[in-house]
Amino acid sequence: MSDIQRVGVVGCGLMGSGIAEVCARAGLDVVVVELDASALAAGRERIARSLAQAVRRGKLAAKDAEAAQERIRFTDDVTRLADRDMVIEAVVEDEAVKTEVFRTLDKVVEREDAILASNTSSIPIMKLGAVTGRPEQVLGLHFFNPVPVLGLVELVPSLLTGAAAVERAESFVREVLGKHVIRSKDRAGFVVNALLVPYLLSAVRMLESGFASLRDIDEGMVRGCAHPMGPLQLADLIGLDTLKAIAESLYEEFKEPLYSPPPLLLRMVDAGLLGRKNGRGFYTYA
Ligand code: CAA
Repeated sequence: MSDIQRVGVVGCGLMGSGIAEVCARAGLDVVVVELDASALAAGRERIARSLAQAVRRGKLAAKDAEAAQERIRFTDDVTRLADRDMVIEAVVEDEAVKTEVFRTLDKVVEREDAILASNTSSIPIMKLGAVTGRPEQVLGLHFFNPVPVLGLVELVPSLLTGAAAVERAESFVREVLGKHVIRSKDRAGFVVNALLVPYLLSAVRMLESGFASLRDIDEGMVRGCAHPMGPLQLADLIGLDTLKAIAESLYEEFKEPLYSPPPLLLRMVDAGLLGRKNGRGFYTYA
């Protein structure tokens, strides 16, 4: 049995709320820290909706959904993470913000062998471990959106992560959360985003150059390659601000032109067109 029973999640956006939900559905005691009151309310609502959907789809009994909801406590007080066995950071994809969170976790989390994990998509784990006094306990656990549906987690040790932390995190994800684990070196984008993001950016360039229409690009990949959604629909699902941030990290690391965010993506983010999460991106959502 895993020694990880008390989990903390920092950030209650799309990913943080999904991670909190799967942890609570696995029977864990979960504390979610979110400083922004409206993000906290939206995250709480997102979890309730997802649990209700899981019940409707026959994936979860109604009483288990209720119990999962009760296992999650929401707070804006980071000191409530003091007794956690593992904390998973899922704040905005910004290195300065994430390093500040890790500095705070290092001060607040009491258990010396607690695992401090980041759900970053692209920021080197070493940069996060380096601001703590316990880099051997810091690693990447990268989940995929929608977290309750997709069964993969990328496990990313830094150069200084200890073997014991890696083994504990891997068995926690496999045995407690029931998700498949793949391991990646600590390189921007890890395995999945290093492959996925240049494909999504190519679709944006294709649209921008007038090569094909929005719907034809998406239909092409759905019907021609059996992808569950097209690249521009997927960009909207990920969030265009997040996609831009991942592209910038990849470009900074590898200097490959295919990783640089195209002007259309930059202008859409400037315009506040962020995708599904705020109602309009490449598509408009009700
Ligand atoms: N809890 C549990 N299961 C749920 C659920 C919930 N809240 N909501 C839905 N499901 C289940 C459904 O029951 C269904 O299961 P079955 O196939 O067994 O019937 C399955 O999930 C699909 O649900 P839907 O029928 O509602 O949805 P869909 O078929 O329209 O698929 C989708 C929606 C899952 C989003 C699908 O389009 C998809 O997988 N898209 C690709 C998503 C993707 O690529 N994500 C990765 C993004 S990259 C990322 O996240 C990393 C990063 O760093 C950017």
